[in-house]
Amino acid sequence: MSDLLQLVFIGTLIAAIGALGWWLLIASEGVYLGRRVVIWLYDVYAHRYEGVKNYFREYEELYLAKPIMQAITPQTNPLVLDVATGTGRLPLALARNETFEGHTIGVDLSRRMLHFATQTIFPYEKTATFIWCPAETLPFPDNSFDVVTCLEALEFMTSPKAVLHELVRVLRPGGLLLITQRINTKFMPGKTWTAGQVIEQLESVGIGESKAQIWQVDYRKVWGRKKGESQPVGVKGLDEVLRCPHCKQGFMKKQDARLWLCESCGKRAKVGNDGVIELFPLY
Ligand SMILES: C[S@@+](CC[C@H](N)C(=O)[O-])C[C@H]1O[C@@H](n2cnc3c(N)ncnc32)[C@H](O)[C@@H]1O
Repeated sequence: MSDLLQLVFIGTLIAAIGALGWWLLIASEGVYLGRRVVIWLYDVYAHRYEGVKNYFREYEELYLAKPIMQAITPQTNPLVLDVATGTGRLPLALARNETFEGHTIGVDLSRRMLHFATQTIFPYEKTATFIWCPAETLPFPDNSFDVVTCLEALEFMTSPKAVLHELVRVLRPGGLLLITQRINTKFMPGKTWTAGQVIEQLESVGIGESKAQIWQVDYRKVWGRKKGESQPVGVKGLDEVLRCPHCKQGFMKKQDARLWLCESCGKRAKVGNDGVIELFPLY
């Protein structure tokens, strides 16, 4: 092989490896490499997330918080679960809404994203609690929440159907579900659904009425109601809904500002300096 051909070959190989790396780590955010890589990438980029997204808080309140509060009216004090809360976008939007008198529990598997969530929410910190745990096994009993949300995250989960099932399991009958659906991307084959497919998936996990709605260039909002009816849950103490992820029997009880304890198996969860409850792992 001539020197020139060798150079062309090496150049092409380097470009192909670079393109593959870009696709695996940047364009598809690690989703084809498994949950650990996805979470590692969010941990690494957590400090840049808010700057990159540049959420316009007035729009967040207008297009997220207001329609949620309108959909659950006359209830004003919902217990809300925001799964894959990231840097606390949804808890903040709700906290800024003038009719919201509820409480939001935000869970995420990226500890660094949660750290920034505690900073985002700071002026309204009484309205939200953040918990470090995976979306695949939510540490709450069935039918615990009035509203469950999961924004811009399902496509980065390795088993989105299992997560959808969990979201609906912890939602009370008649409760409101809000998820988003990634659109307009060619870089995530097999990871995105059409509006019809999402609605079909929702039906299969127990959602009655649902509707998809255009929202942003990259995402649709999909609203749903869990089949059946029940009384609103309303704001509750965390120790009434936080179940031990280890034994799945007892509830976690607050011991002091730094420690929660399972009343049944004795496993303990630390509370970080920033107030995040660390269920991943227990000790
Ligand atoms: C694009 S961000 C969206 C954050 C927030 N919902 C928003 O709209 O700004 C995706 C989030 O999903 C979280 N995530 C990904 N896989 C997860 C999993 N299996 N369990 C919990 N969180 C997960 C990531 O850590 C990240 O914070």
